[in-house]
Amino acid sequence: MIKVVDKIKEIRRLIKDLKNKGYKIGFVPTMGYFHEGHLALMKKAKRLSDKVVVSIFVNPTQFGPNEDLDKYPRDLKRDIKLAEEVGVDLIFAPDSNEMYEQDFQTWVTVEKLSKGLCGDFRPGHFKGVATVVTKLFNIVQPDIAIFGQKDYQQLLVIKRLVKDLNMPIEIVGHPIVREKDGLAMSSRNTYLSSKERESALSLYKSLKYAKELIKKGERSPSKIKNEIKNIITSYPLTKIEYIFLGDPHTLNPYSETIKDRVLIALAVWVGSTRLIDNIIIEIS
Ligand code: PAJ
Repeated sequence: MIKVVDKIKEIRRLIKDLKNKGYKIGFVPTMGYFHEGHLALMKKAKRLSDKVVVSIFVNPTQFGPNEDLDKYPRDLKRDIKLAEEVGVDLIFAPDSNEMYEQDFQTWVTVEKLSKGLCGDFRPGHFKGVATVVTKLFNIVQPDIAIFGQKDYQQLLVIKRLVKDLNMPIEIVGHPIVREKDGLAMSSRNTYLSSKERESALSLYKSLKYAKELIKKGERSPSKIKNEIKNIITSYPLTKIEYIFLGDPHTLNPYSETIKDRVLIALAVWVGSTRLIDNIIIEIS
């Protein structure tokens, strides 16, 4: 039977018991409202560890003042059922007061990797993510933790902070899980009207086209960007926030020519919903 707890003291006690029994702990931090992407991470954690812990916490410190914290979708009952079906052992679902005391004032900042891409448009976002993930790691003390490549910059930020702060945790990435038609799964897709849902396909369509161009020999970042822009803006209701082409390790943008491996990452508003997607292309 899956156990669901909302207090730090309680989850610590349960995990201590599991560790005393010699179990390897796998951890998947989430904000809930599960889709197949979340569940794939849990299944991977299950394969790579003995006991799987999932956190569900819509972390207020990673949302900007005008972002969707209040309307972010939540359904704990449904999440518990889905997690149980894939064999999760423990759910930690604290409220904000449990995670952030009145006088909270300690923050984790991953300086360079938090700049550029989403960092430029969501000030304070990665500081909130790095801080809450550090807190969750301290609470759960997992052996491994799984993160999706959909939030590619987030994955790099977490890998960096674990290295820099000497945390004994293995960080494992998981490929982007997509709907049949290619749209990257996201809890935020529930915001989309049917018309917007069609336009949301433009992200993946443009990434696939960029891949084709590169395979055919195109190496100019500005030309590739232009092609991506043309595809996305040909769909109604879209507004591009950024198109990034650069080094997938450092997140330095390519300016003259793309080389070796290229990360193409996008953030696009479709109506009032902000969507992200990315692809990594090997240049042979
Ligand atoms: P959330 O958006 O709920 O995502 C939880 C995890 O699921 C993240 O690692 C994310 O990258 C992964 N994920 C989401 N959609 C995915 C998809 N289509 N394919 C593969 N993986 C996917 O990311 C967060 O929550 C928060 O920032 C968090 C790390 C929990 C900190 O608050």
